[in-house]
Parts: sequence; C-alpha cells; structure tokens
Amino acid sequence: MPDLPWWRAHRDALLALADQRTPRYVYHLDTVRDRARALQTHVRADRYLYAVKANGHPDVIGALAAEGLRPECVSWDEIAHVRALRPALDPAEILYTPNFAPRAEVARALAEGVRVTIDNASTLDAWADVWRGHDVFVRVDPGVGKGHHAHVRTAGTASKFGVDAADLGALAERARALDVRVVGLHAHVGSGVDETDTWGETARILAAHADAHFPDARVLDVGGGLPVPTGGAAPFDLAAAGRALAAFRTERPEFQVWVEPGRYLVADAGVLLARVTQVKRKGDVRYVGLDTGMNSLVRPALYGAHHDIVNLSRLGAEAEGVAEIVGPICETGDAFAHARPFPHAEEGDVVVIGTAGAYGAVMASSYNRRAPAEEVAM
Ligand SMILES: Cc1ncc(COP(=O)(O)O)c(C=O)c1O
Repeated sequence: MPDLPWWRAHRDALLALADQRTPRYVYHLDTVRDRARALQTHVRADRYLYAVKANGHPDVIGALAAEGLRPECVSWDEIAHVRALRPALDPAEILYTPNFAPRAEVARALAEGVRVTIDNASTLDAWADVWRGHDVFVRVDPGVGKGHHAHVRTAGTASKFGVDAADLGALAERARALDVRVVGLHAHVGSGVDETDTWGETARILAAHADAHFPDARVLDVGGGLPVPTGGAAPFDLAAAGRALAAFRTERPEFQVWVEPGRYLVADAGVLLARVTQVKRKGDVRYVGLDTGMNSLVRPALYGAHHDIVNLSRLGAEAEGVAEIVGPICETGDAFAHARPFPHAEEGDVVVIGTAGAYGAVMASSYNRRAPAEEVAM
C-alpha cells in the first residue's frame, strides 16, 4: 500500500488500538485535512461540499467543516446529524439531494430553509404545495453514467437518479407556474470515475441545459466521483481535473461551479483493523478468516471493490502464496479479497484493510447479529 503512509507511520498506535478491541475503523484526521486542502488547491470551485453519506463520523465532519466544506446530504437524518454536530450552521448552507424521499421529508427540509434538489419532475404536480414559491436546484440526468461498477453509475434510463433531459422543458414551465425558481442545476455521473475531464464535461452539459431552460440557474454542481486508486495503481491526476474545470470556467464565467466529492476526501484516511480468527486449508486454497466481514465493510461483496490488505503483525513479510481473506458471516460472498498474495498468518494477527474510510462504517449492518466495527479517530 505505497500510497498510505499514515498507517505505516502509526503501526504501533494501530496495534495498541487493536489490543483494546477489534474490529475497529480508525480514521486519520490529518489525512482528511490533507485531502480537503489538496482539493481546494488543485480544483478551483466556488463552493466545496462534502457528500456526508461517505463517512458520518463526527470528527470527520468536524475536520471537513474546519476546512470550509459545506455538507451535501441525501436524507433528513443526515441533515439532522450534521445540524446536531454544527448547530450554528445556516440550513441554507446544506445541499439536500434526495432520491425517492417521502414528501414529508422534502417538505420539512424546504420549510427549514435547506437548499433542496428536485430529482423527479412529476413531484412538481404531485406535491405542488410543497414546492410552491421556493428556490430549488434540479438534478439532471447527464445521459451517460461512469464509474468503477454498474451500481455506482448514476445516469441513463437504467439509473433511478435525476430528471431526463427530455423532460427539462416541461419541468421549467411547471416550475414557473408554481413560482418555483430553479437557481441551480446538479449532476453526479457516478463514483470512482477515472477520466480527468468528467467535471468539465458535466459542467458543459449543465450549462447547455441552463441556457435552454433555466435562465435563473447560476450554480452548476458537478457532483463527486473522484477515484481513489488502490493496489498500487497510479494516483488520480487531480490537477488535470482542476484544469478541465478551469477551462469551462474561462468559457462560462457567469456560472458558479460547485463540487461535492465524498470518497476522495475520506477513503484513504480510514482503515479497518481486524484480527485473524482462524486459518484453514481446503485443497489448494488457503482461507484467512477475520473477526469481521461484510457486516463491517460490504464494498467487496457489493461492488467487487478492491481494498489493499496487510498483515500488520508481520509488516514487510513476503507473501506465502495467495489467500482468500474472509469474514465470519454466513454468506459465501463474505470475502474481502480473493486469491490475494498474503504472508503467513496466524490466529491473533492484526490485519489492516486499507482505503476503508469511505462507504465503510456508514454501510455496516449487524447481520448474523454480529456488531459491526466501532469507529475511532486519531
Ligand atoms: C449526489 C451525489 N453527490 C456526491 C456523491 C459522492 O460521490 P463520491 O463519493 O464518489 O465522490 C454521491 C455518491 O453517491 C452522490 O450520489
């Protein structure tokens, strides 16, 4: 894991934390701050938001708030969580981008002054009294989704997100009739998108829709989706993404551009610490079992996501062939890695699963009545 120096430097502290208890998520706040600063250095935007869904730990939210990031939330409970942590925050600073949320939740957010994004044109008719008179954003389906797995590509008719471009004209008319002002357009094409020009392209698509239908739309929110390469892959060229967006801003300086990454800001800052419970051989296959599994970190099972995994107790030891790194959950899919080169392992060894700060603890469950890993920040 060459790109994760923080946990190598903190090996002793991590082993001490593991001695207290495993499984455990550990978040390194300096790395969170480092990513927030890198984003703001390399990508010039008018507003930087943090997609709170990626990691809701209070210290992570606090660290990102201190770096000037505003929250982007997808549920009323996320909004309530952020407001409980930041009582002085003006609700208008929160961007709420719900998808198939119930009417009462949307009504409450609007009533409390949160900035709300319309994700479904038909709600303008069905919930006319909820929307009437408000300034809103519209989430546009940019047509082509991108990302590391089909489940995280959020565009096209096969995706449940956003308003079809063909419906934007009718939406604009209906909004006018309800005295609803569309002051911003939003799109998020997917997560883990490798192309560096995606934010620039998305901004151009949104600007064209603003030109065609929404004269009051002065904000273009190009979503999140920055990738966090693992397995020794080259780091993402954030400066190139920044240049692509800067080119758009030069062409269309009248628009404000907002960005809202989640994963980029927190993934590398988190590891999952677990302990080896048992090692087993079946035929040629070596299984290394850990004291937590998909109940703590479901991304490998859900997306086939790659997480670097290291035997921290034997850091630097050569691989002793490959292993299936599995959890204790009663599902064949309960595996963190398949055929992964892995050193000798024994019961009690402490294992680090890297790049686990995003979409880890927030997606955890108590399946099999096994409590997921608790979280601690350092
Ligand atoms: C609307 C929206 N914005 C931002 C994000 C953050 O994406 P990422 O964590 O890939 O940056 C997501 C992720 O699902 C999203 O749905």
